[in-house]
Amino acid sequence: IPLQVFETSEQASLAVAARIARLVFEKKEKGEKAILGFATGATPIPVYRELVRLHQEENLSFKHVVTFNLDEYYPMQPAADQSYVAFMRRHLFDHVDILEENIHIPDGTAQYVHRFCIEYEEQISTYGGLDIQLLGIGRTGHIGFNEPGSAPNSGTRLVTLDDLTRRDASAYFGGKENVPQKAITMGIGTIFKAKEIILMAWGANKADIVKQAVESDVSTEVPASYLQLSNHAEFVLDREASSLLT
Ligand code: F6R
Repeated sequence: IPLQVFETSEQASLAVAARIARLVFEKKEKGEKAILGFATGATPIPVYRELVRLHQEENLSFKHVVTFNLDEYYPMQPAADQSYVAFMRRHLFDHVDILEENIHIPDGTAQYVHRFCIEYEEQISTYGGLDIQLLGIGRTGHIGFNEPGSAPNSGTRLVTLDDLTRRDASAYFGGKENVPQKAITMGIGTIFKAKEIILMAWGANKADIVKQAVESDVSTEVPASYLQLSNHAEFVLDREASSLLT
């Protein structure tokens, strides 16, 4: 799997943001929209910060950008502080000129979840698929919320979160007991269809799972290891997250 290692997460994030900006610009030149798959969590925050800066200081426009987020807790009210809707507004959407109708985030209030998930997949296809999908990696090896046990051809669906994932989220919810048990997530199959997949990981506490994702056999025990089978996936790491790779 192609790897790019930067000294710091800040440097890595600037490089990723620059690639996104270039794609948005090139698509606009061709009169096309850029279809971007976004992640939440701590990892992509510096990427979004740089995209906001590029918008404010260097005229990067999001008018022709369409976004699909990977996942959302379920149930989750979009207005709640911990929702991924709130996260995306806070870190990106409220600060750029993206059109409301071009933003897609799984609906944590959907009543007919199965139907919602099928429609989410259809919407992505209608736009011709994702040009770039950003990913973080959880300590369970999850991408999106595809926990161990996820199938490589899985689509958008309702999943049960791993105990470790809920523990890692507990700080945001004031205790693990407040973290939802479930989430709606794009599947591994959904992610695989993206034209470029960029998995980012920073810091020493990701070093072990990064090593497993890159170097262990492909297995559902480490869902991110499926990315070894893709010919358009790459890992962007800081030095610490890469420190256990041989
Ligand atoms: C978030 C997501 C998750 C996170 C992962 C890492 O939309 O899908 O897979 O990317 O849990 O989270 P952080 O970046 O907070 O370490």
